[in-house]
Amino acid sequence: MKIGLLDSGVGGLSVLREVHRILPGAELHYVGDSAWCPYGTKSPEVICARVFEISDYLLSQGAGILVIACNSATIHAVGALRATYPLPVVGMEPAVKPAAELTRSGVIGVLATEASIAGEKFHQLVNTHASGVRVITRPCPRFVELVEAGQLTGPEVEDAVDEALAPLLEAGADVFVLGCTHYPFLRAVIEARLPDTATVVDTGPAVARRVKSLLEPDFCSQGKGSILVETTGALDALERLLPRLLPGVNVSSGRRDIRE
Ligand code: DGL
Repeated sequence: MKIGLLDSGVGGLSVLREVHRILPGAELHYVGDSAWCPYGTKSPEVICARVFEISDYLLSQGAGILVIACNSATIHAVGALRATYPLPVVGMEPAVKPAAELTRSGVIGVLATEASIAGEKFHQLVNTHASGVRVITRPCPRFVELVEAGQLTGPEVEDAVDEALAPLLEAGADVFVLGCTHYPFLRAVIEARLPDTATVVDTGPAVARRVKSLLEPDFCSQGKGSILVETTGALDALERLLPRLLPGVNVSSGRRDIRE
């Protein structure tokens, strides 16, 4: 049984690396929809339709668990996916709850896509888990472009990060949620631009633990493990990125057209 993972592009590899870390014997099949990236500026209907296309493909290839390694896709499609497929669907949302528990200043900054922040689900998340806390949201489409282009450090990244963080810092935020799976790849730069007292929260490790909890205790204890990463975009671009995004991890890669 394979674990299928998907994202709008390479961002969800930040989740895949956490799943691989705690389940090294598992067979992972990842599809990055780089031809349609970004999802963050697309309508809920387009995102949902696309996520179904890719999920159907992953299931046809033997996925027994689906991991929606994308906050925007989870927010707009996870309910419909769970109602449609007879298998566990693990999603992820910006980590508002842990951030609200961690803040000392009473202000949290949520970096996420427009699509995630605009959804009714996000408002429910804030109302349920962060009442009494000031939640400041900030879409960072530039972060997605930088990661897709393989730019993880350097002056351009620093400028984009400074611009995104400035209003949050000014408002007194002390906890910063990486609410899009592309953003953890810029974590080193983000942390370097924040005061030492700030906390950065990434949902990837919690998603990986959730996946593990859904498996039989002896699942993949014997397996050698394998990782296949496919893109709907340019294969040469993916192959240039993989060693930087998943250093030291043995990955097979390919290109796959998935059309509506
Ligand atoms: N990585 C995605 C997320 O977690 C979306 C990035 C994008 O395509 O805009 O929301």
